Amino acid sequence: MTKKIWITGASSGIGRALAIKFSKEGWQVAASARRENLLNDLNKNNTNIHSFPLDVKDEKSVKNIFQNVIKKFETLDICVFATGIHDPEAEKKLSSEKIREIMETNFFGTLNCIMAVNSFFREKKSGHIAIVSSVAGYRGLPAASGYCASKAALTSLAESLYFDFKRRNVKVSLISPGFIKTPLTDKNRFPMPMIKSPEYAAEKIFIGLLKKSAFEIHFPKSFTMFVKLLKIMPNWLFFWLVGKGIKRF
Ligand SMILES: NC(=O)c1ccc[n+]([C@@H]2O[C@H](COP(=O)([O-])OP(=O)(O)OC[C@H]3O[C@@H](n4cnc5c(N)ncnc54)[C@H](OP(=O)(O)O)[C@@H]3O)[C@@H](O)[C@H]2O)c1
Repeated sequence: MTKKIWITGASSGIGRALAIKFSKEGWQVAASARRENLLNDLNKNNTNIHSFPLDVKDEKSVKNIFQNVIKKFETLDICVFATGIHDPEAEKKLSSEKIREIMETNFFGTLNCIMAVNSFFREKKSGHIAIVSSVAGYRGLPAASGYCASKAALTSLAESLYFDFKRRNVKVSLISPGFIKTPLTDKNRFPMPMIKSPEYAAEKIFIGLLKKSAFEIHFPKSFTMFVKLLKIMPNWLFFWLVGKGIKRF
């Protein structure tokens, strides 16, 4: 039977590349984001991709859209929640409004999507929820107070949900990309080490999601393993190293 996936954040960057990858592998793809024209363009070039526009901040509409996905597909095997925003220039100034906006999209928007599929997967007693977080969730980084906090919260949420859903035979995965060249990172004004293409990210995520065991899918490993070191390093060393990095750029 044809496999089915729902991807949010599918109008650009990682989500878009992932939608194309899954469609090329013969999956039926429900693609969501706000920009309907971009989703329709995807559909024009890939008949397996179907457009389901939504704003993840609107809890009610996310639930309705998921019902429409199920009406069309009848079932769902995986969902990948890849919606995210980042505003490095605005984050240079501490603004509670900006942090709230980022949390509303990145954290609560993803939570709205998880809540929409919650009872469907629990009743089905199978399924797979993948949450796109970031290595930026490992530790607090400069000029990213909202973004890092939203990703740390998502990473922690994925870990907690892993236990809750396991009891119902529903898999939860965490996706932690390093730097990927997308409109989101195009806003960064610093050199991004080992930056990769969205197609590279899509390939890694595709392989990772179809593996039986892995909880966290992180890439490129040469970069993410280094960031994992930052995570376990004592605070004084972490602050010294990152502080030195800021001075250089
Ligand atoms: N690029 C990286 O280096 C990197 C690294 C680690 C993690 N990530 C994460 O990967 C995910 C994808 O990012 P990306 O780099 O591919 O960025 P991107 O190209 O800017 O894609 C972001 C996607 O999120 C959608 N989106 C934003 N706000 C939305 C909302 N309120 N409702 C529905 N959709 C919304 C956007 O579509 P619309 O504007 O059409 O709604 C777009 O499809 C994000 O969670 C990001 O934090 C990226």
